[in-house]
Amino acid sequence: MTKPVRVAVTGAAGQIGYSLLFRIASGELFGPNTPVRLHLVELPAAIKGAEGTAMELEDCGFPTLDGIEIHDSPEKGFEGINWALLVGSKPRGPGMERNDLIRDNGPIFVAQGRALARAASDVRICVVGNPCNTNALIAQHNCRDVPATRFSAMTMLDENRAKAQLAIKAGVNVGQVKNLAIWGNHSSTMVPDFDNALIGNKPVTEVITDRKWLENDFFATVQKRGAAIIAARGKSSAASAASACIDHVKRFLTKTPSGEWFSAAVPSDGKLYDIPAGLIFSYPVRSKGDGTYEIVKDLKLTPFAREMIGRTTKELLEEREVVKDLLG
Ligand code: NAD
Ligand code: LMR
Repeated sequence: MTKPVRVAVTGAAGQIGYSLLFRIASGELFGPNTPVRLHLVELPAAIKGAEGTAMELEDCGFPTLDGIEIHDSPEKGFEGINWALLVGSKPRGPGMERNDLIRDNGPIFVAQGRALARAASDVRICVVGNPCNTNALIAQHNCRDVPATRFSAMTMLDENRAKAQLAIKAGVNVGQVKNLAIWGNHSSTMVPDFDNALIGNKPVTEVITDRKWLENDFFATVQKRGAAIIAARGKSSAASAASACIDHVKRFLTKTPSGEWFSAAVPSDGKLYDIPAGLIFSYPVRSKGDGTYEIVKDLKLTPFAREMIGRTTKELLEEREVVKDLLG
């Protein structure tokens, strides 16, 4: 019998949890031959909701679902887990930037980082809760026992959004768009790198020759997509965020085809692209197929991209300064 993969999802009773858990339990993430044990982690006040979700998970009859545990503390919830999907935290409302949440949500990741250090060793972490880069930084600083390279924050939703916009503009299927890296922060300063991306194996700029559209409309649409969804739904993205979280973990677990890459926010070692060491920064990365990865080196960046990457770097440095008391 294959040993079950243990996956903790915090915020299990929330919007994203409600989409994400079913897709993990169905076998979509780890395959039909890998049993999954779900750890639903919630605040005590939301445990009832998590219990309801657990009932529905059972009722789906997924053969890959090996069992469900429900926990109201991260210490118990993270016991022996292999993946921590850290979703649980406040979402922003209309008119807010994601980093307006930093002092409310940051402390959650102090406690969860400490709990991870005590309860899990063979674990990889994906932070979804906003502001996700800086929350991942906080968790990582409070969990020195787990290698920093096991911590990531999710910018896959931004990559998916950017690919969709390029596909619509070019009139092609989204599957034709590749190598769209998001650089920097999951915020309105993120940099969707169209210059190094491909549509049907041609540079994007050969297929979409309107550079003004790429630098202005495309950039703004991707950077502000989360806010546009909040304005339309009155709530932040959920199904697309859960889908991106599935993509994020799958991409880390699948060897990236030669010459390709995907986006994830991972710790900077200070050696590449002039990004200061330690920031959790979104780069183009390539997975070795077992959860480990390398940052893609030597990509050519235009002066425009460099300027934009400078802005998002500055914002991440400012966020780090705001939470310096939380960096254990
Ligand atoms: P939600 O309000 O529907 O659910 C959040 C859940 O988290 C709630 O059930 C709450 O009880 C729980 N929670 C809060 N603090 C917790 C803690 N300390 N431990 C465990 N659970 C806790 O919110 P949502 O729509 O699911 O969004 C969750 C987060 O994900 C928000 O911060 C949102 O901004 C973020 N988000 C990020 C991305 C991304 O691309 N990185 C995309 C969408 C949403
Ligand atoms: C998103 O990008 O949809 C999420 O980060 C939610 C938000 O606040 O925009």
